[in-house]
Amino acid sequence: MCGIVGYIGHRDAYEVIIKGLKRLEYRGYDSAGIALLNDKVELAKTKGKVADLEAMCATTISNKGKLGLGHTRWATHGIPNDTNSHPHVSNSGNLVLVHNGIIENYDALKQTLLKRGYVFHSDTDTEILVNLIEDVKIKEKVKLGKAVQIALNQVIGAYAIAVFDVQKPGEIVAAKLGSPLAIGVGEKEYFIASDASPYIEHTNKTVYLEDGEMAIIRLHKSLKIRSIKNDNLIDPYVQELQMSIENIEKGGYDHFMLKEIYEQPQAIIDTFRGRMKADEGIVKLSGLEDHIEKFLHARRIIVIACGTSWHAGLVAEYIFEDLARIPVEVEYASEFRYRNPVIFKDDVVIAISQSGETADTLAAIKLAKQQGAFVFGICNVVGSSIARETHTGAYTHAGPEIGVASTKAFTTQITLLTLMALRLGKKLGALSNTRYRNLLQELQLIPAKIEKVLAVSSQIEHISSLYNHATNCLYLGRGYNFPVALEGALKLKEISYIHAEGYPAAEMKHGPIALIDENMPVFVIATKKGHYDKIVSNIQEIKSRNAKIIAIVTEGDETVKGLADHVIEIPETEECMTPLLASVPLQILSYYIALQRGCNVDQPRNLAKSVTVE
Ligand code: AGP
Ligand code: GLU
Repeated sequence: MCGIVGYIGHRDAYEVIIKGLKRLEYRGYDSAGIALLNDKVELAKTKGKVADLEAMCATTISNKGKLGLGHTRWATHGIPNDTNSHPHVSNSGNLVLVHNGIIENYDALKQTLLKRGYVFHSDTDTEILVNLIEDVKIKEKVKLGKAVQIALNQVIGAYAIAVFDVQKPGEIVAAKLGSPLAIGVGEKEYFIASDASPYIEHTNKTVYLEDGEMAIIRLHKSLKIRSIKNDNLIDPYVQELQMSIENIEKGGYDHFMLKEIYEQPQAIIDTFRGRMKADEGIVKLSGLEDHIEKFLHARRIIVIACGTSWHAGLVAEYIFEDLARIPVEVEYASEFRYRNPVIFKDDVVIAISQSGETADTLAAIKLAKQQGAFVFGICNVVGSSIARETHTGAYTHAGPEIGVASTKAFTTQITLLTLMALRLGKKLGALSNTRYRNLLQELQLIPAKIEKVLAVSSQIEHISSLYNHATNCLYLGRGYNFPVALEGALKLKEISYIHAEGYPAAEMKHGPIALIDENMPVFVIATKKGHYDKIVSNIQEIKSRNAKIIAIVTEGDETVKGLADHVIEIPETEECMTPLLASVPLQILSYYIALQRGCNVDQPRNLAKSVTVE
């Protein structure tokens, strides 16, 4: 989620780091910071973009030093502000650290450190980590590398870190678990970065740290890599990269949208992280736990959102009613705010927004609050306006979504809503213990099942090439798959400019069926659980009118295969989790159709990532 850059060598670290941070800005851009070591440490950090940091550095620090660390942040703990920005410095002022990831047990570590007299200035998990390393270093009387190792063995979570000790210039220690970290090996210089883009013009020799590894990087010495767990020395595997800078910034993908589609398994894992222990039957979302009474006594839940987030809200309607037996209404924020809605004091409003800045959603939240409702926010961008305006909430932790077409935000929103419904369903007695446990186990399997869907993308690319000249398309689904149909149609419309409509499949015969002829591709989500027989009948009806049928089916399905022109198989899952799998092939399909039509996939015409006007 964040970008890290470090340098040690003969160049001015400032130049290398600022340029590198700009290349990593796609990873996060809510704040930026730099620390340079010359005869002292010089630190500059600010809310805002790398350009804001540059402006700040011009007037506040000397920009000198051959060793330094930089960071571009995408906040997870603590809002984006100057204090929460990285690098973070330990209480003594000696250790300087940048971090990408989440320290899950930061609170427990913080309590121990507070008792030992440490003070904290920021709200980040990172500041706890740098002080933990310092505490170990002092207590155990060890060098930086050893202190990092001991400290990391106490940490639960994900990290890529780089840290230096002011008292020992000439050394940077880096470590990785879960978040990426690359080390560029140059002539008498080393680069450290979240990916290789910051240093590719200086060296193509790269060592990618593996999970559980740490590196001791010393000037004029060879790179040392050790296992964090058992201290074993590991031979660095130096790769020669053959990549262009443009390529690397998108992680090797041609577009951010494609990258974000492929990031979904990891984004969902990041959304679970620290919140779900499937084996122990635990779901814990602090925003929910702290206000659980509101949910347990809610007369109903009202979901407000726009666009794709509204589709996630529709899925939530099915999930909450099915698993927790709480009545749900889903509203377009823009309609809700202007139609004098009836809101009761015991209504709970859930506002969903990737950007957290959507003007209509924000206004609808304010209206609901004025009328006394309790508002829970589900946002991806930490510290965004909606995250601040709501009474409480939970972040999706999908990482920055840059492509205008929302993909990983959608599946992580559904993941979070599923966790909430499971927790409430259990607490309200709507779910038996066995069913609750089974659903948790299944949710844990979803990332691997999405990987299986991603693996058939070349088949989907081929299907796209057969339909990229269509002028109209229909998307049909029933039950949980009805919102998936709507989302599939929206994805196609917004990036390929093909007119597309999503419908509940049974509504066909009430009008839309009149549109069907041999030129109309119809995408049907026809997975096994749910209303399978009914949707098979709907497919028969469409087939009799000669439409082309592309069906999303459960692995091994033979019935629909016999009827449809093409089938895309997805793994079997619980009905309530089908949207998490079925939406993925539709995203890939829209991506390829748009690409084949020569459209600007990441920045479609007339749209913006964050709709801050009504
Ligand atoms: C999704 O692909 C769209 N670009 C759009 O519908 C988006 O979901 C909508 O504008 C809501 O944005 P938000 O989630 O940031 O509030
Ligand atoms: N948890 C750290 C923070 O909130 C790092 C964030 C990240 O990797 O996105 O500052």
